[in-house]
Amino acid sequence: MNGVKVVVVGAGVVGFSSAVCIAEALPGCSVTLVADRFSPDTTSDVAAGILLTQDFPDVPLERQKRWLQDGFDELLSIAQSQHSSEAGVLLTSGCQIFKEAPANKTPYWSDIVLGFRLLSERELKRFPHHTFGQAFTTIKCECTNYLPWLLNRFQKAGGQVQRTKVTDLRELGLRYDVIVNCSGLGSRSLAGDGQVYPVRGQVLQVEAPWLQHFIRDADGKTYIYPGARYVTLGGTRQQGDERPMPDPGESDAILERCCRLEPSLRNSRPAGVVVGLRPGRKHPRVEREVVHVNQHRSVHVVHNYGHGGWGVSLAWGTAVDALTLIRKCLQDTPLPAKL
Ligand code: BEZ
Repeated sequence: MNGVKVVVVGAGVVGFSSAVCIAEALPGCSVTLVADRFSPDTTSDVAAGILLTQDFPDVPLERQKRWLQDGFDELLSIAQSQHSSEAGVLLTSGCQIFKEAPANKTPYWSDIVLGFRLLSERELKRFPHHTFGQAFTTIKCECTNYLPWLLNRFQKAGGQVQRTKVTDLRELGLRYDVIVNCSGLGSRSLAGDGQVYPVRGQVLQVEAPWLQHFIRDADGKTYIYPGARYVTLGGTRQQGDERPMPDPGESDAILERCCRLEPSLRNSRPAGVVVGLRPGRKHPRVEREVVHVNQHRSVHVVHNYGHGGWGVSLAWGTAVDALTLIRKCLQDTPLPAKL
């Protein structure tokens, strides 16, 4: 694979995880990452970054489990290293609570996170509107630290970075042999994927240093995630809504819902309000295709996008899958002659 030119499109957590994974595993390739928006201006920067996931009914269980497991193992090794605080990767403990017990009380990820157990009756008394809960330790990966840390790791592995807006993958196909598409919501136009849609997320950042443990309502609408600098309070999941600015009415509603779960938040100090557009899709698209650039040239495209609100959780695992697909591309199809 020596001399093969790979380009990764997108500088969010999926793009940078893919770029690092490829550059470190294939040192004979040249790897370039191109994007028009970098940290702190990506959707990943808005995410609270708690490692958890949803079920994707159309993805084999073994595959989605591997996505989470690979990411958890990678980030756990960072959380347990001297890089933890610089990389913004820390262990966090707390609970997920349910108004009604789910059919499956022990999800498939219960043996990926650490110390999974069910909440006791006594613990649940704190949440009078909830009847069931799960307690566990997972990872919080704060992208405003993690993305610059990955950039540094990528450059150490020989990777190059360019700030450019990509409007057509075929144009990149003239200069690169393999394109890795991690453009998130941008894949609506770049990959012509009509299944990708925005899911607007607004979150508050507050100072409440006395809070140590996260609380997540399993409906996904309300969560309290203590972090290194502030506590993230969420949130909204507004499908099809692309408004980039915070909505004050929504901020009030988020604070009210969070205070119902954790009344001491009434004494917190506001520190910020941010909005991100998650790249919604029924499941992440991690697959390869051949794109015809012109009459003489075709290139391999490996897609890795559509992670919804689970980008941080699944980025490393899907990057490992993308790397496997790149290896297959280069083995199965000889590269077309250069123009
Ligand atoms: C979230 O984790 O809630 C989130 C992710 C991306 C954008 C906004 C919010």
